Amino acid sequence: MKLIAISGSLRRESFNTRLTRAIAARAPDGVDVDCATLHGIPLYDGDLEDEHGVPESVEALRARIDAADGLILSTPEYNGAMPGVFKNALDWLTRPPEKMAPTFSGKPAALCGATPGGLGTTLAQAGSLVMLRQFKVALFPDHLRVSGAADALGEDVGESGPDERTIKQIDRWLKGFIEFVGDR
Ligand code: FNR
Repeated sequence: MKLIAISGSLRRESFNTRLTRAIAARAPDGVDVDCATLHGIPLYDGDLEDEHGVPESVEALRARIDAADGLILSTPEYNGAMPGVFKNALDWLTRPPEKMAPTFSGKPAALCGATPGGLGTTLAQAGSLVMLRQFKVALFPDHLRVSGAADALGEDVGESGPDERTIKQIDRWLKGFIEFVGDR
């Protein structure tokens, strides 16, 4: 089975990117997790699309999504919502409109997120549900919410791994998502 985990943060030491890597590291044998970021994706501009089509960076990400059996979206929370950077990339992926269904419709998808705050990106994840319904993904009902991310995931990418509690949280959630994808 192949999964893709997209981080909605461009930050070098992003907790969400670190979360996607932790998920990949915890994947059992037979499950490969491709960790993606959104670097190189321009702001959506209808004129740019009319003149040049969908950017290569977006088509490259789409190809990685197409190659995966399941999609994991790891969203930061900015002012109670998914950051514009992430929404922008997902908007591009629905262009042109006839590409939306092949990219997303029926695709097993899961939300997760990490924040230094105490609510584990609850609001950003809840707010994303309206969009994911529009995309007609097959939404995994369990959410992975990592609060206190500096302690849970460590301060620096590539250094100490997640703490025991977070590892258990990831393992339980990932097992459920793998079963969910396998059932489809
Ligand atoms: C934040 N942050 C934040 N955190 C949170 O839990 N709820 C929120 O509403 C907000 N709002 C918010 C707005 C803006 C503009 C910024 C820049 C930040 C803090 C945020 O969770 C923190 O910066 C994370 O580290 C972002 O995720 P990455 O980059 O570490 O993946």
